[in-house]
Amino acid sequence: MPGPPQHVASVELRERLRSARRVFVLTGAGVSAESGVPTFRGGGQSAVWKGMPFEVISSAAMVERDLPAVWEWFDYRRGALGECRPNPAHLALARWQDRFESLTLATQNIDGLHAAAGSRGVLELHGNVWTARCLRCAAREDLRRLGQRERPPACPACGDPMRPDVVLFGEMLPMDVYALAAERAADCELCFVVGTSALVYPAAGLPAIARRAGAYVVEVNPEPTPLSGVCDEVLQGRAGEVMPMLETGG
Ligand code: OAD
Repeated sequence: MPGPPQHVASVELRERLRSARRVFVLTGAGVSAESGVPTFRGGGQSAVWKGMPFEVISSAAMVERDLPAVWEWFDYRRGALGECRPNPAHLALARWQDRFESLTLATQNIDGLHAAAGSRGVLELHGNVWTARCLRCAAREDLRRLGQRERPPACPACGDPMRPDVVLFGEMLPMDVYALAAERAADCELCFVVGTSALVYPAAGLPAIARRAGAYVVEVNPEPTPLSGVCDEVLQGRAGEVMPMLETGG
């Protein structure tokens, strides 16, 4: 069991930050909250759009039923993201690439803000809102390059309709991405779980994989989550404050 939530890193964590070679980080919506991106489950509320809970509008069933409505929802979300910039947590994690021998950054976020901060090779477990994928040939295209306004956009490779390249309710995660994340989690010495309510599986299971394999697991979140009780250490605070603090010894 971890001790009570803390606001500063323990001596043990500071030592582990100095000595760890392989570090695994899982982030969720909370890491982007200070960039102005709303979380899904903040303050006891769930996201709703045009009267529809996001579990409905962001569902595999909706792609079948009303693909233009799904595009409208993701166009709206992309529009809202247009002004959002990486915050100190994204920037600190981007710098961690040079700090550790191996850093794996896996995110549930689809906003692309880790890459915008300079993180390379981010494992995007739930896809990316800036990418479209062909329903037929699975070709992927960056929407900023695609430039066409028709909805759904036509695949440049085969002409068939495209969909947002994000994981929707009722769908599996991209198995290659998840398998790599699970492998890295099982091989890390130090694991951080930052800004996720840890309710959506299988992503929320990655810290448990790390812990079973002997890693020291640290949660960063202003609120308790179902993982808090099984982490080695809980840093209670906002990611934009805690992550930069961990760079300076905590
Ligand atoms: P949630 O909205 O469920 O949880 C956000 C978490 O961030 C909560 O635990 C907050 O306490 C925490 N938080 C809020 N502000 C924070 C801050 N400044 N710093 C650190 N933490 C903060 O978001 P996720 O856990 O990411 O999936 O949700 C997981 C998945 O649920 C999403 O990827 C999405 C959704 O269904 C899909 O769309 C497939």
